[in-house]
Amino acid sequence: MCLMQNYRKIMLDIPAPRVLPIIGHAHLMIGLNNEEQLKLITELCFLYPNLVKIWFFHIMGILVSNPDLIQKVFNSEICMEKPYIAYKLFNLDNGLLSARYSRWKHDRRFFNNSFKISTLQTFIPIFIETADKLTSEITRFVDDKAFNILDYTIRCTLKMICSTSLGMKISDSENEETFNKVFHAVEFTSESAALLQNKPLIYPDTIYKLTPRYHENYRQGKYLNDFHQRIIDERREILKNNNNKIDGSTETSDPGYNIFIDHILNNENMFTDQDIRDHVITVLSAGYETSATATAHCILFLAQHQNVQNKLVEEINEVFAADDEITLEALNKLQYMERVIKETLRVAPVGPVIFREAMQDFEIQEGLVIPKGTTFILNIYALHRRKDIWGEKAEEFDPDNFLPENVAKRHPCSFIPFSTGRRNCIGHRYAMISMKIILLKLLQQFKFSTDLKYEELRFKAVLTLKLIGEHLVSITNRY
Ligand code: HEM
Repeated sequence: MCLMQNYRKIMLDIPAPRVLPIIGHAHLMIGLNNEEQLKLITELCFLYPNLVKIWFFHIMGILVSNPDLIQKVFNSEICMEKPYIAYKLFNLDNGLLSARYSRWKHDRRFFNNSFKISTLQTFIPIFIETADKLTSEITRFVDDKAFNILDYTIRCTLKMICSTSLGMKISDSENEETFNKVFHAVEFTSESAALLQNKPLIYPDTIYKLTPRYHENYRQGKYLNDFHQRIIDERREILKNNNNKIDGSTETSDPGYNIFIDHILNNENMFTDQDIRDHVITVLSAGYETSATATAHCILFLAQHQNVQNKLVEEINEVFAADDEITLEALNKLQYMERVIKETLRVAPVGPVIFREAMQDFEIQEGLVIPKGTTFILNIYALHRRKDIWGEKAEEFDPDNFLPENVAKRHPCSFIPFSTGRRNCIGHRYAMISMKIILLKLLQQFKFSTDLKYEELRFKAVLTLKLIGEHLVSITNRY
């Protein structure tokens, strides 16, 4: 079918809200804040439960909402590309998250090794130590005023990723100030990225470079770059001093020989310095804020649902009644915890909206061919709240949604917080293990409560899904 016919068919077969000449649907988006934008594209998904097209000036995006179609798009080799315009703001052309397909295909295969379960298992002692530190840090809030748990989970997960996949030696006192600066810089640069995403008219670099934000962004970006370079240099030094165990030898005494950063540095000839930096930054940024936010959401939801919290603590006590050792096997027994985390990621998926691009014409449905270059938009937030999938109580928090008998009734692509297909989250197992350990440690020590009402929580999408306001919880000692 020729291109013009394809377009004509799309115009006819894929619905769209009323479109204006030249600007398309830009008038619907311009001027909206991050919360309103998320609401708008969520309403569009509910209104058009299969496909809906949106025009932004000359750019067309297709929102895909139906699990069958999601599976088709996200599992197709043709749709593995990431649209440049949606990911260029990360400014990490060679990192896995935003790399072009030809590059990604090779690198993803290479790095899968560093996130397999045998490697993650070696991280468990570090997860435990870091979660213990988090627990002792918040002890000062016992019987005191409410505090923002995210401030603490975020430090915890940053330390986790730095000291596991990135091989840094964390001596906390030395690094506390560095971490604070890193948080600030990450926050500023991601805010800038989100702002730019919202204001496509200042997309052209020439105009953006005239704004004060550009200069501050540059400064903060530079600070982050130096931090990332330090991670790489320090690890290089450690490997060198380790008698050059940089050949992937399994004889090394370091059980983390297969960790992400070593895997790159062991094979430096395959990467440029820029590649190495992009990979390190990608794993660092993708790895800590997501897990920290999800854990903070989870704690807040538990504080709001005391019955769920009590049931979870009962399970923890049962699993760890005879033996306190935290092993992968013990964590796997925490089935209710698994359901609680999944339910958290359902109602609040921290990667709420993701994008793909068709690398060739793509037949999404019989007779409906989407032209090469089209952007697909997947609104995971909306998918996870569809009433036809999750029932009339889709908005409520109920871990029983993940009882095996309920899961069996649903399409496998109804729940995809880590995306789906080959280009899914490489760190999904890392995230689940680390979050379980943090929750376990926190719940063994504290009872959580909050004045915030679940029904009144509001979210915005600023690259990741963020709660509007703070994750304010109070704690008392559990025993
Ligand atoms: C609750 C925690 C997490 C959630 C919900 C999450 C979610 C996601 C999602 C939805 C994607 C797909 C993004 C897209 O297609 O644009 C993704 C990709 C990715 N995530 Fe995660 N993530 C989490 C934790 C982690 C962790 C802990 C790491 C690293 C240790 C990580 C590393 C990555 C990387 C490198 C990618 C790009 C993968 C590729 O394209 O090959 N994530 N994540």
